[in-house]
Amino acid sequence: MPEIQLIETGDGSHSLLNVALNETYHSRHGAMQESLYVFIKQGLDFYNTKYQSENIHVLEVGFGTGLNAWLSFQYAKKHSVLVNYTSLETYPLPHALWKQLVYADEVDRKYFDALHEAVWNAEVKLHPFFVLHKREESLQHFNPSTNHYHIIYFDAFAPNKQPELWELPILNHAVSMLAPGGVFVTYCAKGQLKRDLKSLGLEVESLSGPPGKREMLRAIKK
Ligand SMILES: C[S@@+](CC[C@H](N)C(=O)[O-])C[C@H]1O[C@@H](n2cnc3c(N)ncnc32)[C@H](O)[C@@H]1O
Repeated sequence: MPEIQLIETGDGSHSLLNVALNETYHSRHGAMQESLYVFIKQGLDFYNTKYQSENIHVLEVGFGTGLNAWLSFQYAKKHSVLVNYTSLETYPLPHALWKQLVYADEVDRKYFDALHEAVWNAEVKLHPFFVLHKREESLQHFNPSTNHYHIIYFDAFAPNKQPELWELPILNHAVSMLAPGGVFVTYCAKGQLKRDLKSLGLEVESLSGPPGKREMLRAIKK
């Protein structure tokens, strides 16, 4: 397990620092505001508003702190939409670390804990509107049926820290899992990523980024 430290980000919310990579799990400007904006607003809410679907399949690359899963769970409850949430993770956090993360108030804390306590590599129905499937597996080795997911939250470490996850064959592998009309969303806005996603046939949009970041990307499979 790499050395990982708890940090507080600019909006007061927690994140983690992978010491060896010198890389944080979220923007230092604000973990909560980044996740809410990039993945929930520009990903889940965008898809839900556009398609008014009753059952949305989300794939997350990197479960990490569980913040994106937590915010998606809250969104599903609030909007009464069933979210089937699959999340890949190669280094599940130890109990002692995730227990220190505070994203939920005391009333909701048990649901946040349930996300982390849910067994790995099996589907767990945590709520009538939320089914979690955490997989202790890398994106490179994950092989679901193609065209299965409506949204991919691509939340790997940054390309300069973990380049292998941003290479064209891996992006192609991820995109093959998206259903037509499906949405690929990420905090990263690198020109090379834009070009690669376009070359895979996606319609790529540069959107303004969360506070402190100029841009982010959303790409739609035609
Ligand atoms: C930027 S962090 C984001 C985590 C998470 N989305 C969150 O909100 O905390 C990237 C995560 O990807 C995980 N990861 C690293 N390599 C991976 C791989 N090959 N496949 C899937 N996840 C990976 C890391 O362990 C880390 O938890």
